[in-house]
Amino acid sequence: MKMNPLRLLVKAKPQLPASSSTQGSGHKKSGAASVSKTQGQLVPRRAEFDWSGTPLDWIPEHAYASHFINQINMLLPAGEFWFCRLFNKAMPLISDEKLRQDVQMFIRQEAMHARAHGGAISDYLQAHQIDTKANTAKMDWLFGTLLADKPFGKTVPKRLERRWLMLRLGLVAAVEHMTCVLGKYALENKNWDAVGADAVLLDLLRWHGAEEIEHRSVAFDLYKHLGGDYLSRYYLSCVAVPLVIGLWVDGAANILQQDKRFADKKLSALRPWMWMEWARVSKTGMLPHPLWLAAQQLPFFSPWYDPVKEANTEEALNYLKTSPSAASAANQPLKAYRAAA
Ligand SMILES: [Fe+2]
Ligand SMILES: [Fe+2]
Repeated sequence: MKMNPLRLLVKAKPQLPASSSTQGSGHKKSGAASVSKTQGQLVPRRAEFDWSGTPLDWIPEHAYASHFINQINMLLPAGEFWFCRLFNKAMPLISDEKLRQDVQMFIRQEAMHARAHGGAISDYLQAHQIDTKANTAKMDWLFGTLLADKPFGKTVPKRLERRWLMLRLGLVAAVEHMTCVLGKYALENKNWDAVGADAVLLDLLRWHGAEEIEHRSVAFDLYKHLGGDYLSRYYLSCVAVPLVIGLWVDGAANILQQDKRFADKKLSALRPWMWMEWARVSKTGMLPHPLWLAAQQLPFFSPWYDPVKEANTEEALNYLKTSPSAASAANQPLKAYRAAA
């Protein structure tokens, strides 16, 4: 599903608090501390990527790892635009001013991420004759049909609307923990640099990863603010994590099927080879190990989970200061952001 990111940005205008009947359970009393755990103000950053020189094997001598990570480009845009639509829907329910600002900036950052990965699909993967349609179609169906405001086109009964919203916000909170973990991995994995990985793709991963770290508390704060409980986030994480990992491996298998070098392999998420090869390649330092990735989800299951403790904002901001894509824009807001403010 093609979404115009600027439409989402304009929709992210501040809105008046809703009536008391629609307020979240975290309704902020005058003078009370904000429910926001986000340090400082989030900043939407312009990012432009020139894909003309990026090879398909962007990690030299590591075709599997290159394809595997390239699948991220197809996983993300539909999901991140869906985050934006969902958070816009939740905006009138927010009664905490700082959290409302965080959510607005979160929407703007995610819209930019989706646009950047969408550019990688059209200007990089498709330029290398990779057929991306099958993978993006699955994501469009997931977010545009199954998890839409009207799932399968059916109107959700009024009495279930809030539950349907909360369920989806819980999924976002679980996925945002994953993106924070992966962002940290991307920032800290210097093995890619050591083998001469493509600087543009590395910058895409690290710019995005750094902003995921920067806004890591927003989805969780919002979920809690609107009454999300521990038990629900526990089972929603049990759905979200296998779903994301399964879609990742499935999509990577589809890309690998297009590469003659893997013609003799059993390329399916339902066959062991994809998983065993992922584990084997991770030992080279080019991918996170699947068991490591699964283990990184454990803190989210704790009743005392606190996204603030999961990463270091300063490390992320330090990267963003030097990121070629972000630094070139010098953290300047887009015109559209100004218009929406
Ligand atoms: Fe993102
Ligand atoms: Fe995010």
